[in-house]
This record gives sequence, structure tokens and C-alpha cells, in this order.
Amino acid sequence: MPASPTLSAVPPTGWEYGISRYPDTADVYARLNALVKQPMRQIKRDNMSAVLRQLDERCAKSKQLFERAQTVIPGGVQHNLAFNYPFALAMDKAEGAHLWDVDGNQYIDFLQAGGPTLLGSNYRPVLDKVVELLKHCGPTTGLLHEYEVKLAELIRHYMPACEMFRMLGSGTEAVMGAIRLARTHTGKKWVIKIGGAYHGWSDQMVYGMRLPGTGRMEAHGIPSGSTACVQESFPNDLGALRRKLLLNRLRGGTAAVLVEPLGPESGTRPAEREFNAGVRKLCDEFGALLIFDEVVTGFRVGMGGAQGYFNVKPDLTVLGKCLTGGYPMAGGIGGRKDVMMSLAGGIGATSKRAFVGGTLSANPLSCAAGYFAIQEMARTNAAAVAGRAGDRLCQGLSEIIKRLGLPYVAYNQGSIVHLQTSGVLLLSTRNLIQLMKEAKPRKHMMEEMGAAYAAHGLVTLAGSRLYTSMADTDEVIDEALNRFETVLKLV
Ligand SMILES: Cc1ncc(COP(=O)(O)O)c(C=O)c1O
Repeated sequence: MPASPTLSAVPPTGWEYGISRYPDTADVYARLNALVKQPMRQIKRDNMSAVLRQLDERCAKSKQLFERAQTVIPGGVQHNLAFNYPFALAMDKAEGAHLWDVDGNQYIDFLQAGGPTLLGSNYRPVLDKVVELLKHCGPTTGLLHEYEVKLAELIRHYMPACEMFRMLGSGTEAVMGAIRLARTHTGKKWVIKIGGAYHGWSDQMVYGMRLPGTGRMEAHGIPSGSTACVQESFPNDLGALRRKLLLNRLRGGTAAVLVEPLGPESGTRPAEREFNAGVRKLCDEFGALLIFDEVVTGFRVGMGGAQGYFNVKPDLTVLGKCLTGGYPMAGGIGGRKDVMMSLAGGIGATSKRAFVGGTLSANPLSCAAGYFAIQEMARTNAAAVAGRAGDRLCQGLSEIIKRLGLPYVAYNQGSIVHLQTSGVLLLSTRNLIQLMKEAKPRKHMMEEMGAAYAAHGLVTLAGSRLYTSMADTDEVIDEALNRFETVLKLV
């Protein structure tokens, strides 16, 4: 039996946070608001036709596969937020900073599978450990494995607020579980999220998605009862949050306030520097639990997560994505021991408990992948390396935008880079007329930008978000900037 790898006696301490400078949010919002007021500046029509032609020619096998996929997979893709304009690109190989499609085209990967691959794609040292485990134990046994314990210990080491940890299958599941846990622990019913934030696709959380104030707009197939005790509060508005907490006090109380600590949609609407601390204070005042959804920020912002970066201690933390370094299945809840004990599993756990669990949750494969990936993130200072790549990318994009006289906006929170063109969806129900008129064309423009980037060898998250990784060397970023400039010249 191979020796069981153990956590190094003293885990690496030389890591830094990945956000070198928190964006001046007032300035970002001013620039974004100015952008939304401008007429849309899109890719010139003949240039866009050329882009579509180029994709057709260069990506014939992808197109063919996508057409086949559409006959057996609704929409031809497996996530409602997946990009499929004009067709989904089918990937064949992933390594470091790059992806290769089935036609052999190489891309610089700023999607990073939606965020998990902070170490770069298919990172060899973790792969080797995972293969070793698979050969020895296979992916799952359904029984306790040492890696579950090691992973929980490692998380507690870097995020002390996660005194205990429960592994689940996805961010969605973990958010569901955290909400149930908060309600069980507090005996209260209301849950307040921040409008525009994405917390997965559970019944309760398909609410106020993307555009603040839209409530149940996307809640198809979800009975109104499922969202009856969910509210959304506008981003960065502590006054509005306080009013909701006050009102809820009279009608059953607030179990939890749930935030993405960098702001909705991974900082697409950036949180003001002091917002999280303000939410913490309000939660304390009203006896609500503070849940940080760190599905994106956990480990990407730094080993201590956004909670360490902002120095705000949540009661519960939801992790996902980087938690397993890109391996399935990534999701879990960490938090205060007294709260977490309401999840206590197993026969004989007699307390009133929140029912949570899944057949493949906490399988050895996911736990080992997470355990080794997180150690590698610390050892290599991955968040800071990726953050510096994000700074370089953002700086370069800002210069290109300025040079070309475009009204677009680039800003970043370390390795999370936002490139907002006229496809920006910084709309809300507070301006209903604009929302009705502009949401669709802006969304389509974002799709066109994504397609144009892809035609020039750049994979982005839905045409406006770029995750950088440790594999993004200066050369990779500079090459990416050349390609972005070529695309932005098509406008
Ligand atoms: C902040 C946040 N929370 C939750 C989720 C849901 O995670 P999953 O896709 O693993 O269910 C996501 C996914 O993108 C996310 O970004």
C-alpha cells in the first residue's frame, strides 16, 4: 500500500493575497454608468460577418459536433449560462494557460472552466496525485476517507472561520445547505441576498439574478412558495439592507444574509471596500448569520479567501470551484462549530438537524484533488501570481481602450478581470424603461464580443469576464493583449 501523503508539518506561509489594489469602486461605477448612457458601440457589421465566417471555417468540427449535440442536449450545452454563440466550441486538450479545440486551434484560456483552475489547466502535480489515488482506491467508496479529514483541516488552517467543514457536490448544493443550516440554527426564516448575485440554481436562489430588482423574473418552474422567504437587497446599499432586517424582525426574523464578498457576479458590480464589514455589523445587530459565498473567491483571492482579504469573519462560508482545483465535485460548507453541528451526520445524531448529503459528496477523488490543489496554491503563491497577471491584463486592456477611444471599462480584482463593452448589463429595475429597451441588444452584443474573442484565440467567460491563472506568464498576457486589440479594432 503506498504511503499516505501527509500535510507538510508546517503549511507554507509565504503566500500573499491576489488583489494588489482594491478598485476604486466609485470610479468604476462612474465609468460603468457613463458607458451605459452612451449609445452602443458594437463590432462593425461587415467585421462581425467576417468573424462568423472565420469561426465557421476554422472551427468546422466544433460546429459539426455542436449541431449533433443540439439534437440530444437541450441548447447543445450543459449549463444555462454556457456560451453557445454562434456555436459552442468543443475542446480537446487543456494545459496550463491554453486550450485546444477539436479543430486543433489554440486558445488562451480566460474562462478557466468558470474559475476553478487557478493553478492552470491540468496541473501536473495534482494530476499525478489524483491518478495515484484512482489506481489505489478508485474514485469513491461511500465510506470515510482520510482525505476528507485532511481537506477539512487544511481549509480550517487557511480560513479559521471554517472551524468545521462539510463537503458537498457543487456550489449550488452548498448554498442550499448553508441556507437550510442557517434556518435550522436560528429558527428564523428570511434569507436576504444581494440583487444580481449568482448563488447557483436552487429553487430559492433563482431570484434577483444578474439584474438587481428582478426578483422572480427567471423563476420558471419554481412555485412562488419556494422563494416566499427570500429577498434581494440592492448592492452596496446598507440602508436598504437594514430596513429589510428591521421589517423581517417583525415577521419571523432573518436567518441569513448571503453575499458574494467581491460583489454580485464575482465583482461585476463591485462591492465597496467597507460593505462586507457593514453587513457583518448588521447581521450581529439583528441576529442573522452572515454567509459568504466564496465559490469564486475562495483561494482565488488568496488562501484566506475574501474573508481574510477583507478581514471579515462570516458565520458560514460556501466554497466551490478552486476547492477541488478543477476536479469534480466542488462544493462545501464551512463555519462556526456551534452552527455546523446542526449538520452532524450519522446514526445517533439526535439534535434537530438540517438534512444534507449526497451519494458522491466528499468522495476521495474530490477531497484528494482539493487537498493537493490547495497545498499547491499555497506553495506556489498562485493567487498572487494570477493576480499579477490580472493586473497586467487589466492595465493593458485599459491602455488599448484609451488608445482606440472606446467608452469601454476594464477593472480587476486580482485574477478576476472585468472587460465591459457596450454589452454591459449594468441595468436594474430602478430604470425599467432602459431595462426593457436595452437588456436584449446589450446581451447580444456581449455574445458577439465573446464570439469575436474566440475567433481570435481567446476564450472568455461570456464575453466580459476574464479569469487569470498562475500559468499566465507575461508572454501569455502580452499575446492576449495583442489579440484583444485586434478584436477591439473591429468596433
Ligand atoms: C458565487 C457563486 N456561487 C455559487 C455558484 C454555483 O456553483 P456551482 O456551479 O458549482 O453549482 C457559482 C457558480 O458559478 C458562483 O459563481
